[in-house]
Amino acid sequence: MNAPLPVEVLKQHLIDPEICIRCNTCEETCPVDAITHDANSYVVDPEICNGCMACVPPCPTGSIDNWRLVVRAEAYSVQDQLGWEELPQEKPLPVDAAAAGEGGQPMPAPQAEAGLAQTAAAVTAATPGAAVPPWSAAHPYVNLYTHKTPITATVVGNYRVTGADTESDIHHIVLDFGEQPFPVLEGQSIGILPPGVDALGRPHHARQYSLASPRDGERAGYNNLSLTVKRVTQDHGGAAAHGVCSNYLCDLAKNDTVQVIGPFGHTFLMPNHPQANLIMICTGTGSAPMRAMTERSRRLIGTADIGKLMLFFGARTERELPYFGPLMKLPRDFIDINLALSREPGQPKRYVQDLIRERAAHVRGLLADRNTCIYVCGLKGMEVGVLDALRDVVVQSGEDWSILHDALRREGRLHFETY
Ligand code: A2P
Repeated sequence: MNAPLPVEVLKQHLIDPEICIRCNTCEETCPVDAITHDANSYVVDPEICNGCMACVPPCPTGSIDNWRLVVRAEAYSVQDQLGWEELPQEKPLPVDAAAAGEGGQPMPAPQAEAGLAQTAAAVTAATPGAAVPPWSAAHPYVNLYTHKTPITATVVGNYRVTGADTESDIHHIVLDFGEQPFPVLEGQSIGILPPGVDALGRPHHARQYSLASPRDGERAGYNNLSLTVKRVTQDHGGAAAHGVCSNYLCDLAKNDTVQVIGPFGHTFLMPNHPQANLIMICTGTGSAPMRAMTERSRRLIGTADIGKLMLFFGARTERELPYFGPLMKLPRDFIDINLALSREPGQPKRYVQDLIRERAAHVRGLLADRNTCIYVCGLKGMEVGVLDALRDVVVQSGEDWSILHDALRREGRLHFETY
């Protein structure tokens, strides 16, 4: 008769602050703007999150994939979460609520089964790239080392890879792990913990950098890897700004040691099957994963049936294009190189998307081959331009871009890493 009102249970979505590397991917991906951040943490607003899961596959660390059953009225607020240094322990639910959580009482509809069926549709709607790796990618290790358990690497090389007289101070930095395990794949990234504390006295968070070297080391057979780091002296608006981690890295000397976490990333990975083609589109330091994949392929020449490599690389000038010299030495029958220079004196301004249109016939031919995977890395602004260019190339031949785009995402053949 007077039965107690059923207690509403929420499967609350939370981000683990100990693993999160503050890369902003989740906030960018969330289709309903439920994710927000302050200088310390990324958090999920329980009033907005609908459990669509769109943010889960793109997260490079998996820190996004944390859930707690809570009484809805007692859900952790955004303010609660912003103060956390670690996730709270799971709290036992009141008896009524526990029954509800087990199916006695329906969970709020969207959270009822935040499972895989929803994931694919939500991700397709929210992100331009794939949420799965190519079918033949090797299985990556992730999160072997965390903020609490970093690994120490030794700097064995640090040199500038852009013209000394240019504004773009980009460094190639080689880190060695000695006999400590640090298995990586091309396309993965690592986190660097810069020493010191932020304005509030808290240790700096890790900064994420893509690997520029292949899985078997910057030097084949060595337990080392390389990064491509641009010294940050301005913010996106052009105002003076001092990049804490980029300046720290660019100033490192040989034999200095660095605290590293990771590796991260389980989707932006290269295919491993014979005849797999790569279309690589990048600007500036976005060339790091392209260098890694190119070098992996180069080392396989003569031992495996490698497919075609096509590179679109954007930079202001040749002298500001990292790795210009070594890149130009690669055999033309191994890689099809297209440089888009935007500020080269005496030349018209060109972006990578302009060159994709100029090479339409070739790009179309590769897109028609299901062995082709596309990788885009660099400036966020390039994302829309590249998608438009790919669409134009496909539409010109009378095909339906939306069908191909869906297939590229579903089959793990189109990947973005932009910032
Ligand atoms: P721009 O000369 O217009 O800045 P950066 O040197 O800043 O890292 O940029 C790398 C290259 O990417 C530059 O040539 C830059 O041109 C170019 N770029 C800037 N915005 C875009 C965009 N929306 N799409 C493609 N390329 C871009």
